[in-house]
Amino acid sequence: MPAIDINALFTPGLIAAQQPQWPGGVDGEPVTKAVSTLKKLPPLVFAGECDNLKARIAEAAAGRAFWLQGGDCAETFVAATADSIRNRIKTILQMAAVLQYFSSLPVIKVGRMAGQFAKPRSNDNETRDGVTLPAYRGDAVNDLEFTLESRTPNPERLVQVYNTSAATLNLVRAFTQGGFADLRQVHEWNKGFVSDSRFGARYEQMANEIGRALEFMVSAGVDPEEFKTVDFYSSHEALILEYEKALTRIDSRTDLPYDVSAHFVWIGERTRQLDGAHMDFASKIHNPIGIKLGPKSTIEDALAMIAKLNPNNEPGRLTFITRMGAGLIREKLPPLVQAVTDSGANVLWVCDPMHGNTYEAPSGYKTRRFEDVTEEVRGFFEVHKKLGTHPGGIHIELTGDDVTECVGGGEQISHEDLAMRYETACDPRLNHTQSLELAFLVAEMLRDR
Ligand code: PEP
Ligand code: CO
Repeated sequence: MPAIDINALFTPGLIAAQQPQWPGGVDGEPVTKAVSTLKKLPPLVFAGECDNLKARIAEAAAGRAFWLQGGDCAETFVAATADSIRNRIKTILQMAAVLQYFSSLPVIKVGRMAGQFAKPRSNDNETRDGVTLPAYRGDAVNDLEFTLESRTPNPERLVQVYNTSAATLNLVRAFTQGGFADLRQVHEWNKGFVSDSRFGARYEQMANEIGRALEFMVSAGVDPEEFKTVDFYSSHEALILEYEKALTRIDSRTDLPYDVSAHFVWIGERTRQLDGAHMDFASKIHNPIGIKLGPKSTIEDALAMIAKLNPNNEPGRLTFITRMGAGLIREKLPPLVQAVTDSGANVLWVCDPMHGNTYEAPSGYKTRRFEDVTEEVRGFFEVHKKLGTHPGGIHIELTGDDVTECVGGGEQISHEDLAMRYETACDPRLNHTQSLELAFLVAEMLRDR
């Protein structure tokens, strides 16, 4: 078969929002060199795995599975350590075990991990003490440090994104296949969480119930392979198009293009223009795709996106990740869900209760209230219950460490506490404890849905 020119798949001349000002421009030597290196590197994921995920999303869209997606707002190269990766996986596995038990549904576990290195920004520049420099756009583009050298976009970083993603994915696969993810072990961790009376007491009974179910199975001699390993998928925002295109390959089984930088990629609220380059890119690859929908999204937008991204109504292809804010979800979500449902389109509805609830604390830190996060999820469940549709999953910015970035929760983190351990490179994340609290709260909602 003649080699296919991947670039010819994409419509030329479209506007790509939120791209860095690369030195030499997008066609200059530095970017071209990085792209040509990336093009020679092996895929990070196998297209067949993307198809497996698509089939599982189709199950979730039909109400037969639940989607749990979590990880950093922005991964960084320095934080791609064994401890940090392990703690994030552990947190997601702990959340999944609780959600699965109380929903009686399989939980699809997806990391904002192994590729989430690029960020859209509301301003191109940042000014501090009279000095203006390019904004930090994620480790894929520049460095957080506030110096001209660090903030100047450097295309060599795209190759480092690939290498760091490969190393992360390797450890993720080892952890999830090598015994670390054993359900009984995960339950032991959850027992540790509920033994802390500050927040755990409320969930102790739920944890005990899971424990008894596990003991019952052990006593009956049941020891299935499914207890020992889990499927774990990678995802990130497809933002830097040169990177995503360089990792788009023709699948040898189907002769179709897949973005093999992750199993699932999404297009953010700021780059989902119907006639823009990101939507064109998403329409050409065969991965399962997510689209973020904020409170300004219209019914026409949603239907046009469906027509563009999933004209054949392929089950599992399209996920709408709504991020309305706790105060708006009950008003903004119902018309969208109703219209999409009436159209007959097959989509998975996922709630991102993070991005509509960000504000600046008096101290200047960007934060979110745990209670707003849970309130948006509650609204999401209520809307779907009323409409008879399936609340298909949640999308959370979290870390496995004891950071202080979001306020509230059982630990009662206050605005003054934020300075103690505020480590995120971008948006504030739920810490380990807050993530588990959220899982138990959502489990109650799932049980009562
Ligand atoms: C994000 O998920 O980090 C993000 C930037 O979200 P949104 O596109 O919804 O603002
Ligand atoms: Co974010």
